[in-house]
Amino acid sequence: MAKLRVGVLASGRGSNLQSLLEQSLGGKIDAQVVLVASNKADAGALEKAREAGIPTRVIDHRGFASREDFDTAMVAALREAGVELVVLAGFMRLLSKVFLEAFPQRIMNIHPSLLPAFPGLNVQRQALEYGARFSGCTVHFVDGGLDTGPIIIQAVVPILEDDSEQSLAARILAEEHRIYPRAVQLFAEGRLRVEGRRVRIAPKADPPETALVNPALPG
Ligand code: GAR
Repeated sequence: MAKLRVGVLASGRGSNLQSLLEQSLGGKIDAQVVLVASNKADAGALEKAREAGIPTRVIDHRGFASREDFDTAMVAALREAGVELVVLAGFMRLLSKVFLEAFPQRIMNIHPSLLPAFPGLNVQRQALEYGARFSGCTVHFVDGGLDTGPIIIQAVVPILEDDSEQSLAARILAEEHRIYPRAVQLFAEGRLRVEGRRVRIAPKADPPETALVNPALPG
């Protein structure tokens, strides 16, 4: 079976990209990363992609007059690479309609909180200052809002008494690296169905019949 063609968009360090690459290059998921694109030339994610021999593109948003123009260029790069699923991995830009309509229900994001709690930026600080006892991470389909799309998978971690933003972020990140490849695999298996706000996960299909059995001859 052909592998799902994934395009990863990242603006930063790229640890989620790295975990996806490990799973896909290790043959653990039915997906291959065919392009890593960034709006930042110095994103660590690009370096990680190059080390793994994955094609990269830099499209600097500052070179475009509008969000739509930038998105049009990004969509063109993804289409050129034959991308079927767009995976946002620390991509710090909101997507316009141009992007959303080019890949309907084919864009995922990961966010380091239990959405709908603590969307946006400085998420670990928000959770600590609020006094929450638990936080975690969320993989969701992307819609027009800020971290608002239908939720695919979440993982929960405790917030400990002496946590700092950094220690909490590290505990959450370890879970991010587990659930993002899992969500991509569910998509690759065609098991995700969006019904309004809810994402249904279909049971794993039986393997196709491997042999035809002739009915026994009469007599
Ligand atoms: C991750 O923690 C991811 O959840 C977060 O950025 C970090 C990227 O790390 N994304 C967001 O906050 C999006 N709203 P990485 O570059 O090491 O994967």
